[in-house]
Amino acid sequence: MKLAVIGTGYVGLVSGTCFAALGHEVTCIDRDASKIATLKQGGIPIYEDSLQQLVQENAAASRLHFTTDLAAGLEGAEAIFIAVGTPVSALGHGGADLSYVYAVARDIAPHLKDDAVIVVKSTVPVGTGKRLREIISELRPGLRFEMVSNPEFLREGCAVKDFMEPDRIITGTETARGKAVMEALYAPLTRQNVPLLITDIPTAELTKYAANAFLATKIAFINEMADVCEQTNADVAMLAHGMGLDHRIGQDFLAPGPGFGGSCFPKDTLALKKIAQEHKSPVRIVEAVIAANDARKIHMVTKVRDAFGGSVTGKKIAVLGLAFKANTSDVRESAALALLPALVEQGAHVQVYDPAAMEEAKHALSTLEVQWCQSLAEVLQGADGAVIVTEWPEFRQLDLAAAKTQMVQPVLVDLRNCITPDAAKAAGFTYHSIGRASSA
Ligand code: UDX
Repeated sequence: MKLAVIGTGYVGLVSGTCFAALGHEVTCIDRDASKIATLKQGGIPIYEDSLQQLVQENAAASRLHFTTDLAAGLEGAEAIFIAVGTPVSALGHGGADLSYVYAVARDIAPHLKDDAVIVVKSTVPVGTGKRLREIISELRPGLRFEMVSNPEFLREGCAVKDFMEPDRIITGTETARGKAVMEALYAPLTRQNVPLLITDIPTAELTKYAANAFLATKIAFINEMADVCEQTNADVAMLAHGMGLDHRIGQDFLAPGPGFGGSCFPKDTLALKKIAQEHKSPVRIVEAVIAANDARKIHMVTKVRDAFGGSVTGKKIAVLGLAFKANTSDVRESAALALLPALVEQGAHVQVYDPAAMEEAKHALSTLEVQWCQSLAEVLQGADGAVIVTEWPEFRQLDLAAAKTQMVQPVLVDLRNCITPDAAKAAGFTYHSIGRASSA
């Protein structure tokens, strides 16, 4: 099929490239000329393993094109994907900002031909498909077109794998034709027995939020259980394993940490809370998850301060990891963005290192006085203690003996349980972690 994908951010670029890899002919469209120029030269503006090769292969095979020209990009498209951002609204109510999605609807309306198929891949509140139909119909009275919802379930850092080997595909359609188009589109995956669930549009829109909110709930739950473990001398890793052996719970998304971040869980839980409030059906559990996660990021500051005897003033603290999780350069809502300013404000001298997120962190923390280090060795040098915030493999394999020689004090606060307490103790570290007994 010939497809157009509008928006070349995380979702649009990965989806467009993977659709091409499945054999479709895809034109990715973006108004950002510099981004399109980078993509045309084979550059990838996001940190995503295996994506660059996939883009280059499919562009070379003329299955993948990039343009800023909307009319040209839409020409002959059998399905038009809207994959632009829906950030948290700046109006402070927590809902999604749909202005980019609505702008695309207005931009494409003049170019649409009868029987156009418009697929919303951006994460949008229930009712957005209906609203988009209204916008386009107002601009093009009498136009015959299909609205479709097709939410994505891509994790940053493994988005290509999540697209090509999904647990399921969910799409909401209005007519048999919309259904037939989506079945043809995803045939290369359904032929490999990937379930394709076809619902109505509101159900597909809400399922995306429900799935993300539930995953966030699992994380917030295990994080609170980790706190209880610390107070009861229990071991959260064993507890999570014991819970997860129940097939109804499962092992995934029960790794305790400093609180969830990223561009989705914080945004989508807030948006779901607002959607529910607007429909007078409050999601109290999701509200509690949001509050618990926000409180946790603040609690991590106290945890670090306690590890340094109650005060970090004058202490040189090495912060290992700035990205919201390993295998991404994305720092949006990262626990580090809450921790660093608090440590600096309390008088610590903070030196930071991340294998991939330094540039994005410098942009996000541009006014913060910290020392930006280029390596693990540099960030540990002369430190009175170290804090692991992101679970990069480089930190999981930390050479504790070498680290000890570089640091002034062997204090390690491990907010991702990257190290084992035994190894830390054997290396002579005062070790604090999540949901496990500390070793002084
Ligand atoms: C998430 C959803 O997983 C994905 O399906 C959706 O499409 C987009 O949002 P993403 O935000 O990229 O993906 O990352 P994810 O791997 O889900 O992690 C989100 C946050 O939860 C990170 O801060 C991560 O560190 C944290 N997390 C995740 C935990 O703290 N513990 C876990 O066990 C899993």
